[in-house]
Amino acid sequence: MKNLFDLTGRVAVVTGASSGLGADAARAYVEQGADVALLARRAAKLETLADELRRMGRRVEVVPCDVTDEEQVKRAVAEVIGRLGRIDILLNNAGVAVRGSVEELTAEDWDRGMNTNLRGMFFMCKYVVPHMRAQHYGRIVNISSVNARIADKNPALVRHVYNASKAGVRGLTLGMAASYGMDNITVNAVGPGLFESEMTADTLFANEPFMQMYNAICPMGRPGRRGELNGTILYFSSEASSYVTGQYVVVDGGTSLV
Ligand SMILES: NC(=O)c1ccc[n+]([C@@H]2O[C@H](COP(=O)([O-])OP(=O)(O)OC[C@H]3O[C@@H](n4cnc5c(N)ncnc54)[C@H](OP(=O)(O)O)[C@@H]3O)[C@@H](O)[C@H]2O)c1
Repeated sequence: MKNLFDLTGRVAVVTGASSGLGADAARAYVEQGADVALLARRAAKLETLADELRRMGRRVEVVPCDVTDEEQVKRAVAEVIGRLGRIDILLNNAGVAVRGSVEELTAEDWDRGMNTNLRGMFFMCKYVVPHMRAQHYGRIVNISSVNARIADKNPALVRHVYNASKAGVRGLTLGMAASYGMDNITVNAVGPGLFESEMTADTLFANEPFMQMYNAICPMGRPGRRGELNGTILYFSSEASSYVTGQYVVVDGGTSLV
């Protein structure tokens, strides 16, 4: 039987690959046979991951890039195509979780949240889409959040610019999906619930009362485990979802249902 998740011969670009969910997704792409370009600001972390992934037999390129900087993004996309020949899959994963309510956030906080989570995604798409259109193939996976669907009233967990930017990711996904279907480019969004990463380790995971409350509310009784986002990312990145576009799938153990 044909393996619908096989990515042999494909080239994937992962933003925010220096830690957490992005690094895990890069591993999953390589396991499925793809060559991968790793993008983020911390080059040393990308190099360490690249060494690990190259031992799995694939071509892996490190391309340091701040996604909020249009010139850097433009250069990074050209570099990936120059080194790996093409881009079939774009995983827009880079993100920051800026905390605070509208009353607390400064204009700088707002810009940092929106620029990383949404503007950076726009830049990546702006430079990758023409290439995908020319080759009449593309899979774009945008990492949103369950916080594009649900919000917290607990003051310690309020993140209004995060909610806004991640809802924006859903909107961008929708618009792009409608525009590029005829180019055989699918665009889908993934909304992770709670997963341990640099973003959450010192804040949410270190907060015992919060974790007890989360586990009590979550129908599956626990946060996501390492690798548990990969199935959905691979689905949207492969032939398995060839007729699926514009969707937003939440991976949260059912937390947003209750
Ligand atoms: N963990 C969760 O529970 C959870 C839940 C919902 C959604 N998410 C989303 O999942 C994605 C990954 O987050 P994570 O949990 O894996 O957190 P993480 O470990 O903090 O990873 C964030 C990644 O984004 C990169 N990044 C941040 N700003 C960047 C910039 N300006 N340019 C390029 N890269 C940048 C970071 O790399 P550098 O610092 O090296 O640039 C890092 O690799 C984010 O979009 C996040 O919002 C996570």
